[in-house]
Amino acid sequence: MKLTVLAVLTILCYFGVPQISAIAVMSVDLGSEWMKVGIVSPGVPMEIALNVESKRKSPAVISFRDNIRLFGEDAAAIGVKYPQKSFSYLLDLLGKSIDHPLVKLYQKRFPYYNIVPDTERGTIRFKLDEETYFSPEELVAQILVKAKEFAEHGAQQPIKECVLTVPGYFNQVERKALLQAGELAGLKVLQLINDYTAVSLNYGIFRSKTFNETTQYVMFYDMGAYSTSAVLIGYQSIKTKERGYPETHPQATVLGVGFDRTLGGLEIQLRLRDYLGKKFNEMKKTKTDVFTNPRAMAKLFKEAGRVKNVLSANAEHIAQVEGLLDDKDFKLVVKREEMEDLCKDLFERVKGPVEIALKTAHLTMDVVSQVVLVGAGTRVPKVQEVLQKYVKQDLAKNLNTDEAATMGAVYRAAELSTGFKVAKFITKDAVIYPVQVTFERPTEEGSIKQVKRTLFSLMNPYPSKKIITFNKYTSDFSFNVNYAELDYLRPEEIRYLGSTNLSEFQLTGVSEALNKNSGKNVETKGIKAHFQMNESGLLNLLNVELIVEKTILPEDEEEGTLSKIGSTFSKLFGGEEKPAEEKPTPETPAEKPAEDKEDKPQEQPAEEKEPVKQDKEDAKPKNETQKNETDTVKDSKPKVGTFKEPIKSTEHVLTIHPLDKKQLAESAEKIRKLNKLEADIRRRETSMNNLESFVIDIQTKLDEEDYKAAGKAEEVAKIRQACDEVSNWLYEDGVDADTETYEKKLDELHSLTKELFSKVWEHRERPEAIKALDTMLNYSSNFLDNAKNLTKKANPQKDVYTDIEIETLHKLIVDTKQWKEKSVKEQDKLEKSDPIKLTVKMLMDKMAALDREVKYLVSKLKMWKPKKVEKPVTEKADNSSDSGKKEESRTTDTKDDVVIDVGGEEQEAEVTDGATDAKPVEDEHLEL
Ligand SMILES: *[C@@H]1O[C@H](CO)[C@@H](O)[C@H](O)[C@H]1NC(C)=O
Ligand SMILES: *[C@@H]1O[C@H](CO)[C@@H](O)[C@H](O)[C@H]1NC(C)=O
Ligand SMILES: *[C@@H]1O[C@H](CO)[C@@H](O)[C@H](O)[C@H]1NC(C)=O
Ligand SMILES: *[C@@H]1O[C@H](CO)[C@@H](O)[C@H](O)[C@H]1NC(C)=O
Ligand SMILES: *[C@@H]1O[C@H](CO)[C@@H](O)[C@H](O)[C@H]1NC(C)=O
Ligand SMILES: *[C@@H]1O[C@H](CO)[C@@H](O)[C@H](O)[C@H]1NC(C)=O
Repeated sequence: MKLTVLAVLTILCYFGVPQISAIAVMSVDLGSEWMKVGIVSPGVPMEIALNVESKRKSPAVISFRDNIRLFGEDAAAIGVKYPQKSFSYLLDLLGKSIDHPLVKLYQKRFPYYNIVPDTERGTIRFKLDEETYFSPEELVAQILVKAKEFAEHGAQQPIKECVLTVPGYFNQVERKALLQAGELAGLKVLQLINDYTAVSLNYGIFRSKTFNETTQYVMFYDMGAYSTSAVLIGYQSIKTKERGYPETHPQATVLGVGFDRTLGGLEIQLRLRDYLGKKFNEMKKTKTDVFTNPRAMAKLFKEAGRVKNVLSANAEHIAQVEGLLDDKDFKLVVKREEMEDLCKDLFERVKGPVEIALKTAHLTMDVVSQVVLVGAGTRVPKVQEVLQKYVKQDLAKNLNTDEAATMGAVYRAAELSTGFKVAKFITKDAVIYPVQVTFERPTEEGSIKQVKRTLFSLMNPYPSKKIITFNKYTSDFSFNVNYAELDYLRPEEIRYLGSTNLSEFQLTGVSEALNKNSGKNVETKGIKAHFQMNESGLLNLLNVELIVEKTILPEDEEEGTLSKIGSTFSKLFGGEEKPAEEKPTPETPAEKPAEDKEDKPQEQPAEEKEPVKQDKEDAKPKNETQKNETDTVKDSKPKVGTFKEPIKSTEHVLTIHPLDKKQLAESAEKIRKLNKLEADIRRRETSMNNLESFVIDIQTKLDEEDYKAAGKAEEVAKIRQACDEVSNWLYEDGVDADTETYEKKLDELHSLTKELFSKVWEHRERPEAIKALDTMLNYSSNFLDNAKNLTKKANPQKDVYTDIEIETLHKLIVDTKQWKEKSVKEQDKLEKSDPIKLTVKMLMDKMAALDREVKYLVSKLKMWKPKKVEKPVTEKADNSSDSGKKEESRTTDTKDDVVIDVGGEEQEAEVTDGATDAKPVEDEHLEL
């Protein structure tokens, strides 16, 4: 450690400077093929966290071999040799059953995996060997563990909070599974952000200055490895009054979304792989069918990926694999046209997402000012050609969109965390799988009628809340929540959704609640179910409540209606239901006067209003005038108050169940063990490397003059011998040693060399330490000279210091000087190999003692106030008439400011003046 650093640290300790404590947050853009990690840490711009190979993205691959877990490039390399032990393209396996079409597609694409059903959950698991199974959640979680490591390494501190990107087409089950994977990885997921929303956020941040009230339409066309999406975004600036005053903020609204879940670079690569395989078989180099050999197929897959990329730029390329099968090589010229022929039907699907995006937005291509290409798949020339022909405009393909989703997501993470302040940028997402509520209602004739009500329709913005009111139920009942209005999707996309029935909710205690709230002045207003589509695109039933209106007589009102309602309400609300997010306020009877009166629709369609807004409306009846004005229908009615009674609801999930508590704990434990195993391996490697490099370090040093001089001959010889022994051991018996043995040997070498090394250090650092002490002595003496003038005797107007204080500092300075001269002389007489007499520590201690004393005096000066506050300014100005106008103006600045007269010397004046600042001596010492 350099002395300067040491000195600064010492000083910092004195003054208790707080350590930087803001907390970094991260984002992960986990795609099917690649993972990118974004970080934001205090004082550093948002950036990409590099992986262990210092690259900006890592293959989203994880593999297991001999109990060793590997990730990224290493895992991909294993994948070519042991395809069954290496897992990739995992994202789209989340939350699916064994007979899900996408699982079937995966099995067809990668036939060498052993995928088995998880009978408990109705999902799938990869079987690695007889004892080892992994669910997609567990595998994805372990990839996220790596993301966390990269981020923590990049930010140099532990990170927990993150925003994860999610394919926009992910349904409820898939989203929940990804959330749980994040949880298993030890992350606190602040939000799932749709990949296209993150991209549009990132794009918008850099252009927000150009937005105005007129909407600008931009289309993002993203073809990735696995899927393709087209999204139409409307950018504009909007006015809000959220904080009580008008503000303008940029906003991105998702207006239209189209996607194709199986169109992407991977499908092209697979077709090329199978083409190469077919050609190899046709060559008849061996009797074995190449398609039956997983390793050969993995090699062909890798080669197909390479050829696909080269063919994006070149018209033809040679595919070749050495020893593909049975030691036979493979070589084949592939032309770009051949590849395009293989994928003809795929290119026909390129325009599909654009079509649907426009259709769902109810807009046409001519409003779109820019089409931005995102994703590696859009680099395929044919894709661009087809797309351009369809959109009839130039494509913006030179924007660096590779990291746009990662950076958009980390921006959101910074916004959501408490430690950072970022410019507000509003994003409004849109529902792409509409949700409806269905229930059965007995008709007056006694039959049962199926009723459907749309809750969230297509392209409804979210986050948002919706309420549905059931008016006709007097006892327990249930309703279902399903996907609906999906006809705009291709039939296969609907199949990929899995079950379109999401949940059944059972409501209990309805009649009890009704009984509790009956009476002559009471009228029930139905049962309201409050739904929320939250920031992550997840649907929640927040709470269900019975609404009743009670007529309030004028005399009651005088007692204070509002406080009464308030207290009644809080009593009602103290039930078993957890409090809803909404503020419990009485509802206005004026809320829906028309609907309430009508007899026709017994069940009202879901309201469009957000409760936040509603809260404001709820507050209106407080103003009687206004209520009077708006509620014209009820002019003749007496005044009424609204009460809420919670109703218990139980959810029965009709889709794949998320992991329950027990399953989560088991998976977490499994991952923890694997993390530990990996950490142990890493620790062993590190301890071996440390030992090895320390030996080399010592051996190099022993050849340096400094070290030779500081050690006695026999001491040096002994160290040399120890080094040789360890060095030999390391390359023979020590190869397989465990961590503890390496660490023990390192400790031994440390203690053996400790004295020698510390002597060298002392000799090297001493001159600087002496210099530092001299500076400190000078400074203290100057201070003393000034301070002497602030005693009763010297300056009755300003008697800051007592004679004893002056004497103490004086003595300390003199003693320190004498001690220093004597000690330096003694040390200089010694041999370099003799034990040290004057250590750097001693010098530092002397400095510290002086520092303490001066600091005490400085603070006393700061606290000092004249006994009579009689025009001190003028007096000072008079006293120091020869020291210039500078001090004069300073004294007038603040009353508390005190100036020591330093005899007009500009430089010293600065020093002393600085001493009256908040952190007086610190700055001074930092210069040492
Ligand atoms: C908004 O900006 C666009 C281009 O950036 C411009 O053509 C248009 O006139 C602007 N509209 C208003 C109302 O300022
Ligand atoms: C799904 O829900 C609809 C409407 O509630 C119902 O008719 C249908 O039987 C349900 N299907 C399944 C498989 O539960
Ligand atoms: C959204 O809802 C899910 C499921 O209930 C929940 O886990 C999550 O914390 C909620 N909030 C956000 C911001 O994701
Ligand atoms: C009630 O509303 C009216 C009209 O909006 C307003 O003039 C009046 O000041 C309000 N009174 C109170 C007590 O808020
Ligand atoms: C409020 O209603 C009362 C009768 O209920 C009426 O006399 C009064 O004029 C109304 N006030 C306003 C401001 O409409
Ligand atoms: C002490 O103060 C007097 C008068 O205030 C001044 O003349 C003299 O120069 C000062 N001495 C020092 C060392 O600052």
